[in-house]
Amino acid sequence: MSDRELTALYEEIADCPNCALARTRTQTVPGTGPAPADVMCIGEAPGAREDELGQPFVGPAGRLLDELLGAAGLSRESVYIANIVKCRPPGNRDPGPEEIAACRGYLERQIALVDPKVIVTLGRFSMAAWFPGESIGRIHGRARRVDGRLVMPMYHPAAALHRGDLRPALVADFQKLAELLAQAPGGGPPPEHSGEAGPAAAPAGAAASPAPPQAPLL
Ligand code: URA
Repeated sequence: MSDRELTALYEEIADCPNCALARTRTQTVPGTGPAPADVMCIGEAPGAREDELGQPFVGPAGRLLDELLGAAGLSRESVYIANIVKCRPPGNRDPGPEEIAACRGYLERQIALVDPKVIVTLGRFSMAAWFPGESIGRIHGRARRVDGRLVMPMYHPAAALHRGDLRPALVADFQKLAELLAQAPGGGPPPEHSGEAGPAAAPAGAAASPAPPQAPLL
């Protein structure tokens, strides 16, 4: 059932006119993977290869993501993969707050359909949708429960391609993800994060607001 609803959502996204990226994209890149899925990885925005093929993380960053998932005992096929923004920003620039806001409803619907136990945010734009004002260097690899789901921020694989020194942290964080999944298949609930949350809480551009009080980190 979720699969049919996801397909319907993809069809809706394919015609999306909601921001200026609609004029420059080759095609939308809604996401790939099963629904439901235990793990949902959420990146930033499609790059050139993704725009060409209509699938997320199929360029160099995607190859590293596949490796990291594999090292954590997860196959790409078992994980749902999407981005905060469904269309390529020209020249691979950062997505703007209005572009992130225009896609927010799609992401919320995807999360509801995929119903993941763990959301892995890849990079600071995705992280900021759950943890505005936070620093990725401070909170990466530490899962928090937000609105009943575990959300684990991680560095973006593309960042590790540019900065090799980030790679060990990314590998270690994927190992923690594997441990988290192994430990709590039914989800032994850590304390609820009490602030406003979810991808609707704040667009990534709105980093000025102070972070809400945080639940203890896992
Ligand atoms: N970077 C992302 O954030 N998403 C992709 O799909 C590819 C690269």
